[in-house]
Amino acid sequence: MSDGYRLVDNADLTNRNTFGIVARAPLLVEVDDAAALPRLFASGLVDAADPALLVLGGGSNLLFAADAPRPVLALTAQNVEIVSDDGDNVVVHASAGVPWHDLVMHTLSLGLCGLENLALIPGTVGAAPIQNIGAYGVEVRERVHAVEVFERVTGQVRRLGPDACRFAYRDSAFKRDPGRWIVTAVEFALSRSNAPVLDYAGLRDELAAMGIAAPTAMQAAEAVIRIRRRKLPDPAVLGNAGSFFKNPIVPNARADALHAAHPGLPMFRSESDATRKLSAAWLIDACGWKGHRDGDAGVSPEHALVLVNHGEATGAQLLALARRIAGSVQERFGIALEPEPRIVGADW
Ligand code: EPU
Repeated sequence: MSDGYRLVDNADLTNRNTFGIVARAPLLVEVDDAAALPRLFASGLVDAADPALLVLGGGSNLLFAADAPRPVLALTAQNVEIVSDDGDNVVVHASAGVPWHDLVMHTLSLGLCGLENLALIPGTVGAAPIQNIGAYGVEVRERVHAVEVFERVTGQVRRLGPDACRFAYRDSAFKRDPGRWIVTAVEFALSRSNAPVLDYAGLRDELAAMGIAAPTAMQAAEAVIRIRRRKLPDPAVLGNAGSFFKNPIVPNARADALHAAHPGLPMFRSESDATRKLSAAWLIDACGWKGHRDGDAGVSPEHALVLVNHGEATGAQLLALARRIAGSVQERFGIALEPEPRIVGADW
């Protein structure tokens, strides 16, 4: 304990992945103090440069298709502090182990706007920049001030600004190069005065149903929470990892052709004017998968993009179902779906 980390041999990871898949790791290292990472790697127990070394956050974006082949790290520190405040613009520093939704509610309770659209997303602060979490019109990259990382090969501690993080839709430098950094803390640029972003149509509708015309950030978060509770299964009740596939991004000409053939297919703006983002949920729904079950591996009856574990599904069964879904979307629409969660123990 005084080393700043704790070791668990032959660790059970079933409660550490939101799919609730039975999986083990030969060694789990719970790192209570990120400053202990150099000491941990110097101990020889864990090889910092091993690309198969998995750093676990809330396990909410992970599919164990097999046991973890190597040690697994979990960063547990949960500190949150304001590091700068000019009266309006406030930078909040949060360590990697803070549960994401707790940070959202804590900053809102301090009167800070910025994270309200991202309420109720499962996972930890450390995982948020890795897949650039996003929901209801906001991506976390729009709020990231800096990301503190431990660089695994050099052993250096670095602080990366948003450009160095190379954020894109559900993507970042951390995701593209998983063996390079361990995210130890994130700084968020928040504001006392900004109005909530209400571009996502369903959000305005929800607020209207709540009788609110000019919402505070806290009220916007409440609306997001109501939508999420209605649309997305709670992983504490039914194992899942949120959206299993990314929304596909296609060139405009392809989007136009698809729209002509399927006028109901929802399309959204993408990062480039030359492309559009399609609704993977709609494509999967149109292929008839919503509510489908193969034993305990299934597709949520509430949302076609969410794969669920009805009890004792294995990661391999969920992966097999995901491949069948992607195969049918490919066959019917000519679109290659890509999984969103990290898959351990198998290639997509
Ligand atoms: N739709 C269907 N069938 C369904 C569900 C949805 O046809 O079963 C269609 C509807 O037309 C709906 C559209 O898909 O209007 C979009 O659905 P939704 O608003 O739920 O958003 P999404 O594109 O499916 C994305 C994110 C979610 C995020 C929501 C809200 C991805 C991969 N997913 O889902 O993020 O909460 O937008 O902003 O980008 C996650 O990443 O795990 C996640 C849940």
